Amino acid sequence: MTNDHFSMNILISEDNIRERVKELVEEIISDFVYNETTIVAALKGSFVFLADIIREFHRKGSELIVEFIDVSSYSGTTVSQGNPLIREFKRPSVCGRNVLLVDDILDTGHTLSKCKTILENEHPMVLKTCVFLVKDVKRLVDITPDYFGFTIEDKFVVGYGLDYDGKFRELPYIAEIEEISTSI
Ligand code: IMP
Ligand code: MG
Repeated sequence: MTNDHFSMNILISEDNIRERVKELVEEIISDFVYNETTIVAALKGSFVFLADIIREFHRKGSELIVEFIDVSSYSGTTVSQGNPLIREFKRPSVCGRNVLLVDDILDTGHTLSKCKTILENEHPMVLKTCVFLVKDVKRLVDITPDYFGFTIEDKFVVGYGLDYDGKFRELPYIAEIEEISTSI
């Protein structure tokens, strides 16, 4: 009988995340001198990061509009599938708006780049990108986020919204995951 389970190695603690989110929002606000920012978040992985940053924006007196793009690039694997599927929710155009595109992690660059192109085509006044994690890998698409939380090595991580096959999004920290197969 084969029993699959996982080993976790915490890379970024809850406390470190909390501290960094505060700093990051300060950094963004000091650049965004405009009144109202539209955040467009790429689902699903960014939802925990989004929930933290929007409340930090509020604490610092910013007013936001929050919208979503639904992107999926992994299907039960730990290797990016290259051509992300985009399912657009009905959302107002970002034409003329100050937009911050938010995602959980930058890996190959396909997802952020595709979402950025979609928004650029709507002619926002300003379009900046922010990801929680940047993987230290050679990108397949040349894109650098304007803002990021942390850089990590090329490891598959979960928690703080990031999943493996739909699991582990609820973990309040970022952990490297390894699948262990035990034969009994
Ligand atoms: P990219 O298109 O290869 O840059 O991948 C970005 C997307 O893949 C992110 O929005 C994540 O949803 C997902 N992803 C990339 N690396 C990881 C990881 O280590 N853990 C979980 N999801 C990941
Ligand atoms: Mg994603």
